[in-house]
Parts: sequence; structure tokens; C-alpha cells
Amino acid sequence: LTAGPGWDDEIRRLARERDAVVLAHNYQRPEIQDVADHTGDSLALSRIAAASDASTIVFCGVHFMAETAKILAPDKTVLIPDARAGCSLADSISADELREWKSEHPGAVVVSYVNTTAAVKAETDVCCTSSNAVEVVASIPEDREILFLPDQFLGAHVKRITGRRNLHIWAGECHVHAGINGAELTAQAQADPEADLFVHPECGCATSALYLAGAGAVPADQVHILSTGGMLDAAKNTTKRSVLVATEVGMLHQLRRANPDVAFRAVNDRASCGYMKMITPGALTRALREGRDEVHVDLETAERARGAVRRMIEIGR
Ligand code: 13P
Ligand code: SF4
Repeated sequence: LTAGPGWDDEIRRLARERDAVVLAHNYQRPEIQDVADHTGDSLALSRIAAASDASTIVFCGVHFMAETAKILAPDKTVLIPDARAGCSLADSISADELREWKSEHPGAVVVSYVNTTAAVKAETDVCCTSSNAVEVVASIPEDREILFLPDQFLGAHVKRITGRRNLHIWAGECHVHAGINGAELTAQAQADPEADLFVHPECGCATSALYLAGAGAVPADQVHILSTGGMLDAAKNTTKRSVLVATEVGMLHQLRRANPDVAFRAVNDRASCGYMKMITPGALTRALREGRDEVHVDLETAERARGAVRRMIEIGR
């Protein structure tokens, strides 16, 4: 299932026929990123999905992203080229577990990362992405307790920046980002002391990067904790010859396109998300030809989740 000659034209033709806009997350395979109408991070793609006037959205990403598009645009047809493309982080909390956690903290504000199922979003006050998690938490009155879920590393990052003491963090993680460890990051940063470090806040090594900066092992202005969209902006402006990148490896494609003069290197080149890579050129072709896999969110769940998702797309950059 590879992209052969003329494949791009075929995808463009099929998308026109179906009145579809094709969205791709920054972790998608390079050929999918290149053929999409828009490539971006979770927040940017949610905003595009909400504003698009196409009648069909083809979401090349994982299932919770397509669900989020459906919540925001219930009248549109939302397709994901392979409905099995899940997310270990979204699987780390169920709606029942969240209801139980809420019952232990009555009155707390629930902040859910967008990497959650629609059923969890329906139990949420406000969603966030890695681009705007700090702003979302900062917008909540100081005296309100906060339940932040499901990512423990993003939660720790937000707590560090905002200094919120009344923020409780669920112990979930993404298997890809948790696997990018501090020892690898430290060794590579020491081998290339001039390099900038771009670190996604879902990484287990985000704390190590800040520790390196705190200990003076890396100048603090070389450490950047960023969403995938934030990495792209930073790539365009970096003055460094090399950048060490701690996130899923699909990100390197956009970074190299954004600034071909810089050597972008993965801190862990095995950090590949198998779910993201399920969206193959063949699967995208099939989605556009056959109109599947269609994403459904039941009306009541979507209704309950919509407010939290709308607040997310209104806050931050
Ligand atoms: P962002 O694109 O929002 O940085 O999210 C990264 C991610 O892990 C999505 O699964
Ligand atoms: Fe989920 Fe991690 Fe894959 Fe992102 S990289 S989709 S958080 S499993």
C-alpha cells in the first residue's frame, strides 16, 4: 500500500468528488502529510475542522481526533481511513474511572487533554491540547480544585509552569512519548552541546530536559517544551545548526521542510506511533473511494462534550 505515480492527483480528484477536506496530523506518514489539504497539531486541526465548509472531513490521525471533529461538526460526514487507529493515552482513562475520580473531588474543574474518548469529554468541563494546556489551566480561578487528565507528564509540566498546588493529575501516559527517556536525551545533549532541544510535554524526559537546564548542563534558552505546532514555529526561527527532537518521529518531516538548513535529529528514532502509521496511502484511497470508516458519536455524548471542546478551541494560540 504505497503511494505510486499519480497517486496525489487521484487523491485530489477523489476529495473533490466527495467534497472532502483532508486533514493530517504532524505524526502521519510523509506521503499522507504531503497530500493533505492541511497538516498540523491537534489544536490547529480541530479549529480547521470546526471552520471548514466541506461536507466531509477525512481525518488522517487517530480515532479521538476524528471524534473531536465529529463533536465540533455533527452535520458533517467524518471519515478516518482506519478506525482501528487508537491511542494508548486515550485508553488510559474510561468515563467510569473519571466519574469515580470526580466523586472523590466534588466541585473540582475537570480539564481533559484532547487525547480522550468522546465519553470522557462528555464528563469534562474544558479540554486542552499541548498547545494551550497552560492557558486553559491559568484561566481557571485559583481557588478551584482541578482534575487534570490523562497525561501525567503534561500534567507535571502544566503544574510546574502555573505553580498550581490544587491540581490533581491522572497517572496516564502515551507509550511512545513515555519511551523517550532522560538518559538518551542527556547523552545526546552532551554530545552536541550547541543543539536546541525540542521536547514534547507528553515525554517522560521533559523533566530531564529541564533538570539539564537547571543544572547548567544545557543553557536554559536551548530547552523548549513545545507542542508539535510549537515545534514548527520554533524550527522556522532557530539560529542553531542542529536540533534534537523528543517526540514521535513523524514530526521530523515537517521540521525538515520548515527549515532545510538545520539538522533535526530524533532523540529516539524508535519513537514511532503504530496507530498513526495505520493510515497508509492505500487506506486513504479506500476511505475516499468507499466513504469509510465513518466516525459516529452518539448525539447525547456529542452534545455533552461540545462545550468542553469549544472552550478548548477558543483558548490559546
Ligand atoms: P499535539 O499535536 O497537540 O502536540 O499532540 C501530540 C500527540 O501526541 C497527538 O497524539
Ligand atoms: Fe496517542 Fe501517543 Fe500515538 Fe499520540 S503518539 S496518538 S498520544 S499513542
